[in-house]
Amino acid sequence: MILIEWSKELELGIPEIDRQHRKLVDMLNQFYTELEKGAKEEAVEHFLENLEKYLKYHLSYEEKYMEEIGFPETENHRKIHNMFKKLYAEEKERYLKGDQKALRELVAFTFSWLFSHIMKTDRKYAEFVKVGA
Ligand SMILES: [Fe+2]
Repeated sequence: MILIEWSKELELGIPEIDRQHRKLVDMLNQFYTELEKGAKEEAVEHFLENLEKYLKYHLSYEEKYMEEIGFPETENHRKIHNMFKKLYAEEKERYLKGDQKALRELVAFTFSWLFSHIMKTDRKYAEFVKVGA
């Protein structure tokens, strides 16, 4: 797996959301590095818990933000978040059932989802803010 470096192209120009995206990228990089090093189960649980808490916080922050700015595609965007949550939960279920590979796949999947989600989907409300301002 290739780790994602934070880059300018991921920036939406909305400071708080950029900060959250950046933090997620950092968390995922760190998590993946720990997995590669063969982190202990306790550490893994800790990373997973933190990641999930922050993902949840971030996605609902975005949803609230879109509502506040009156973004017309908020519902659709929420559905895309929910689809991600569903896929994430399925992948996690595989890990909990003892599939050791599933955890790396979970991190890799979250990474690639986040990257393309920022580039394609989040960009839409960022454009809306720019045009509307
Ligand atoms: Fe989003």
